[in-house]
This record gives sequence, structure tokens and C-alpha cells, in this order.
Amino acid sequence: MNRTGIRMSPIDSKAMRELEPSITTDDGAGDIALAELRSDYIANADALGSVPLPGTLTGALTVGMSMLTGDRPQILLDKLGERLAFERTGTRLYDALITKCEVMLTGDISMTIDDLEQIRADEARHFLMVADAIESLGGDPTSQTPSADLVGVESMGLVQVLNDPRTTIAQSLHAIVTAELSDKAGWETLVALADEHGLADMVERFTYALNEEREHLALTQTWYEEAIGLTYGDVELDDMTPVSEPPP
Ligand SMILES: [Fe+2]
Repeated sequence: MNRTGIRMSPIDSKAMRELEPSITTDDGAGDIALAELRSDYIANADALGSVPLPGTLTGALTVGMSMLTGDRPQILLDKLGERLAFERTGTRLYDALITKCEVMLTGDISMTIDDLEQIRADEARHFLMVADAIESLGGDPTSQTPSADLVGVESMGLVQVLNDPRTTIAQSLHAIVTAELSDKAGWETLVALADEHGLADMVERFTYALNEEREHLALTQTWYEEAIGLTYGDVELDDMTPVSEPPP
């Protein structure tokens, strides 16, 4: 039985509301003290690591790096590191979903384990493609860049959802859709960055990966909607046509 709501305990919640105002009224001093404490930490914090630039140890950029036409090659390397980390996590998310589906997938939705194996293989191939791209620039794919660290922290919740034995397939797909939204946005950024640096080969390969991610997103969104019982018949497309005035 869910007892989380305040209405589960009318007597206690009434007593709480009737507390002496001086006890509950906050003049903001607590919030200000907390903000001041945090400000101090922010002002004195280190960065989330740094981007290891190839060749900086020897003082000269490697052949791969010197081919880049754009400035700030560290941003490209940082973002390549980010995709590498996220694709690796994506592969693990699908591993977890496949395990869950082997136990509890029913015929209620059109998703099959073969579909999931296919997407998992795409994510693993993307991971290897990004590792190759980093190496072609003279970088080290095993180094952790700041953005790789960032997406590692961001995706921790998604990994927890997928590995929680209590979550349903619908709940797992909700987390997977979040991952695919982020994946698609990440590839869009990477295509733009590779283009800025004049890396035509990478633009072509990354655009192919982006299109695969778009397909993943469309598929997982459809499966999620099926899993929560939505069918396309429930939503009239006419209702979704933008109107000139927002609804009241
Ligand atoms: Fe994906």
C-alpha cells in the first residue's frame, strides 16, 4: 500500500500545518547559508579533468591533428570521448534490456529480442567507429575526457533503471528513450564538429551513425508507447496540428 501522500495521515498532517509559525517560517537564512557554502566550493573547484591533446608531450602535434582545419581541436577530441563513453553505456543498457526481456517479454508489443540485438550491435559498432576516429587523429581512445566523465555521471540513473530487477519493460523503455534522445543529439553535434574541422570522411560515417540513431529513437519510442498501451489510433493527428493561439 502506498503511504507516501500527506493525506494518508490526516491527524499528523493537520498538526504539522498548525505548527507554531516561528518554527516553520524560514527567513531565507538557511538557503543563503547553503548557497554561500556552495559558492565557495564552486569558486575553488578544479575542472572535470582535461582533454589529452595528442603530441603535446613531444611539443608537436601529430600528423592526424595537424590535418584539422578548425581551431580548438580539443573540443572535437572531448566530444569524441563523450560519444565513445555514451555508446559503451548504450551497449550495456541494451544488454540489460535483453536480459530483462528474456525473462518477461510478452507478445503485447511489437519489439523482439532480435530487434534489441540489432540495436545493441549498432551501438557497439558506433563505439568502435569513434575509437577509430580518435586514433586517426593521433588521440588515445582509452583516455577519459571531461565530457566523457560528464555523460558517465548523467547516464548513471539510466543504468540503475535498467539493472533494477523491479522495473518493468515499459519503465526500462522509458529510460532507453531518454538515452536515445541524448544519443541522437550527441551525434548531431559530432557531425557538425567534424564538418567544422573539414573531416569529410568522419562527417560521412558519423551521418550514417546519426541516421541509425534516429531509427533507434523512432523504434524505442514506438515500443514504449505500445508498452504503456498507447496506439496510434488514440491520438488523432488532426489534434496535433499547431493552432495559432495556445490553448487556455
Ligand atoms: Fe542508439
